[in-house]
Amino acid sequence: MKPIGIFDSGIGGLTVARAVSEAIPGHPIVYFGDTAHLPYGEKSATLIQRYSVRIARELLDLGCGSLVVACNSASSNALDAIRSAAGPGIPVIDVVTPAVNWVQSKYERGAIGVIGTRATIASGWYQQLLHEAGFTAQAKATPLLASAIEEGFQHGRVSSALIEAYLGEGAFDSVQAIILGCTHYPLIADQISAQLPSHVELIDSANVVAQALRSAIQEQLVDGAEIPSSTSQRFLVSDLTDSFARGAQRFYASPITLQERKLSSLLD
Ligand code: DGL
Repeated sequence: MKPIGIFDSGIGGLTVARAVSEAIPGHPIVYFGDTAHLPYGEKSATLIQRYSVRIARELLDLGCGSLVVACNSASSNALDAIRSAAGPGIPVIDVVTPAVNWVQSKYERGAIGVIGTRATIASGWYQQLLHEAGFTAQAKATPLLASAIEEGFQHGRVSSALIEAYLGEGAFDSVQAIILGCTHYPLIADQISAQLPSHVELIDSANVVAQALRSAIQEQLVDGAEIPSSTSQRFLVSDLTDSFARGAQRFYASPITLQERKLSSLLD
């Protein structure tokens, strides 16, 4: 059975990898975090496309039969490039479309909030899909949140102050729900919720992305060989440091070991 390739700019996409491993237990997974080049959220669309395509190719070279773009910045800026690099036989699941589809299945009309990196919000893709689905989009870039969480500043004064600065003063009082448009934000979902009126629901796309992947690779699951008895999961990063190794445990919510795999042919 071909592994599922999951990638992100760093370790935040492990929140999606976790949901995938729960939704499709036992299926081999290769995770790739491009820690040498993060944050993607501060890069241009051109650079995000270059990095993303390089990693997609790496995962396909490692034998992956499907790809999950577990990064909102890459999903919003590089999906077409990734899909054309992958070719027609490889299902490519992003994190934006399943979240908007879920909103559409749950809400009739009205305002939906989105928070994410600068690159995600500047691409306008969430906003476009929400408009096409009949919603009003209220989008805001919250760039410092991801790096604060990565530094371990969660559930404390630093994250609270940032959340208040970005979401305070009733900025999102009129929305029905807010999409957590960054792989890091589920780790501070309770703090974000506490800043918002109780009617505002938070949407963490990890589980809906895992379900979208499950449907997209249904054929591979049915047609494939028997499910491997032991879980075979690899977690690769393009630059391994102690802080990424420690942070990975928090994002995956259980102990994992990162291995370094340099992207040698990428021009920096
Ligand atoms: N993983 C990125 C995202 O979901 C956030 C971190 C970054 O900027 O690289 O957009």
